[in-house]
Amino acid sequence: MQLFIEKDYLAMSKKAAQIFADEIRKKPNLVLGLATGSTPMGTYEELIRMHKEEGLDFSQVVSFNLDEYYGLTPDNPQSYNYFMFENLFNKINIKRENIHIPDGTVKDVENYCKEYDIQIEKFGGIDIQLLGIGVNGHIGFNEPADELVVGTHLTDLTEDTIKANSRFFESIDQVPTKAITMGLGSIMKAKKILLLANGKNKAPIIAKLIKGGVVTTQNPASFLLIHPDSTIIIDEEAASEL
Ligand code: PGA
Repeated sequence: MQLFIEKDYLAMSKKAAQIFADEIRKKPNLVLGLATGSTPMGTYEELIRMHKEEGLDFSQVVSFNLDEYYGLTPDNPQSYNYFMFENLFNKINIKRENIHIPDGTVKDVENYCKEYDIQIEKFGGIDIQLLGIGVNGHIGFNEPADELVVGTHLTDLTEDTIKANSRFFESIDQVPTKAITMGLGSIMKAKKILLLANGKNKAPIIAKLIKGGVVTTQNPASFLLIHPDSTIIIDEEAASEL
């Protein structure tokens, strides 16, 4: 695991975007694993800038998103589908048919999730996976638990996560309580993983992750410590308890 501590959010975002851009230039049909939330927004802004000003080409890039709230339609402004189109896809030249985001409205969830993992494999697996981290150590919606699920699955959100995500909703009762998420196995199979964290509220979980030096299902992000090619990029605030 490689660790980079950058001055602030902007520097963290630029560093992450540069890694993505270098990989896309090396392999134009790169398979990206993408994330939502406040953390990756700056990275997406920088990738959009690189597309517009430097001709970074997404025309052959394939993407798979980590997760989606269960019960929200893709056109719901709180959905992760909506987020991705607003914050990235509508502003770059990725092809619609190359975009994969879990559908939070499916009925036969079990088969749908199996198929999602099969699709990832069909494209040769994820080349580079972007991750944020929850204040409780979750990645995607793999919440701390006694056991973690390997493949893509439907999961209950923990109270910590519902509370943290309620900032995007009018009230906490509107936050969905379930989500479809790639599993720990789907994430760990990515050839390269980039985890980003910024801000003081992430400092305790970052300290626990890095100083703890243990792998535990109670801190799903800790599995990155044993991934062969994982990079953690954080800002000085998130590093303040190291
Ligand atoms: P955030 O969420 O980027 O909005 O802080 C990260 C996460 O919960 O994975």
